[in-house]
Amino acid sequence: MERLVQGTRVLQADVAHPEPEVLEAAAKVIREGGVVAFPTETVYGLGADATSAEAVGRIFEAKGRPSDNPLIVHVADREQLDQVVSLVPPVAERLIERFWPGPLTLVLPKVASVPHAVTGGLETVGVRMPDHPVALALIRAAGLPVAAPSANRSGRPSPTAAEHVLEDLGGRIPLVIDGGETGVGLESTVIDLTIDPPVILRPGGITLEEIAEAIGAVEVAASVDGAEAGEAPRSPGMKYVHYAPKARVILVDGPVLHMQEKIRDLILEFQEEGRRVGIMCGAESRGLYLAQVVMEYGSRGDLAAVASDLFGTLRAFDRHGVDVILVEGVPTTGIGLAIMNRLRRAAGGQVVQV
Ligand code: TXA
Ligand code: MG
Repeated sequence: MERLVQGTRVLQADVAHPEPEVLEAAAKVIREGGVVAFPTETVYGLGADATSAEAVGRIFEAKGRPSDNPLIVHVADREQLDQVVSLVPPVAERLIERFWPGPLTLVLPKVASVPHAVTGGLETVGVRMPDHPVALALIRAAGLPVAAPSANRSGRPSPTAAEHVLEDLGGRIPLVIDGGETGVGLESTVIDLTIDPPVILRPGGITLEEIAEAIGAVEVAASVDGAEAGEAPRSPGMKYVHYAPKARVILVDGPVLHMQEKIRDLILEFQEEGRRVGIMCGAESRGLYLAQVVMEYGSRGDLAAVASDLFGTLRAFDRHGVDVILVEGVPTTGIGLAIMNRLRRAAGGQVVQV
């Protein structure tokens, strides 16, 4: 099925059995140096030929992305990995064995043929094998490693449905493959394997606990929890405004009862100033808040479900015209570390600790 949105072609794909004609249409655009948005198991990506600086330039142009922020290269098999990186150390082998295909990006030394346009000038490259039939089939059909950041305008929440891609990039890109909603809902974990012990630069779909179990020693970059904002981030993408809906976001964090009390106080304060207030909270506290818009992100007891809906819920506030969104924090265990990282960044550092 095909539709046209502001000049962008949208091709519907059967996720379990992607149609050859859909894959071929998208692969052709990529081989000819264009960009295509496609689903992965984390978020939608905006893909281009990773071996062409010119093609990759179109990604930065469509997204409005700063050119020093490197892209992740997506591969479909081991042979493509070897076309992109110059060394696969034993620790990488263990992680690949355990977590690929899946939401884990490995930062490794790049080969000379990967253009600096992909890596933001770095000698390393982030690479992953996505766990999604459409993404894998597209990379195979293109016959090339595919560079792909999340398919949002720079600074906006990452897209977890084709509609989100069209909201941000409709009319700016030629083609979107619509594969329905993504599963994980947050981006891949990025881990730097060029240093010992390895360092998690961005928490994501594979948790710190899972990685520690697989390889033992692993560190988390200071930039992840935003505590040391002054430190130069090693993952260049961590320094920019990110995941921001149109309204101002304030994250409230601490023990549940204290959070709830603080949020109720803040609602009154903002309403007295005449502001429209949105609340994003756990299902458990939904009934506690008298604000203009209350949206739940799911049960605090099921953080995987919270992750899968997080960006969609942030985007949904755009349609309600609120001035400020107050968000309940979650514990930083498991996928909670990635959820809190995204919420802190959506809040641009406006975190109220109670
Ligand atoms: O799940 C994902 O990772 C999604 C899907 C589409 O695969 N992609 C994604 O890409 O989130 P992007 O460009 O939005 O985020 C890439 C992150 C950025 O924080 C970037 O700085 C970091 O990975 N990164 C990429 N290459 C790097 C490198 N060589 N060294 C350090 N950080 C790197
Ligand atoms: Mg992104």
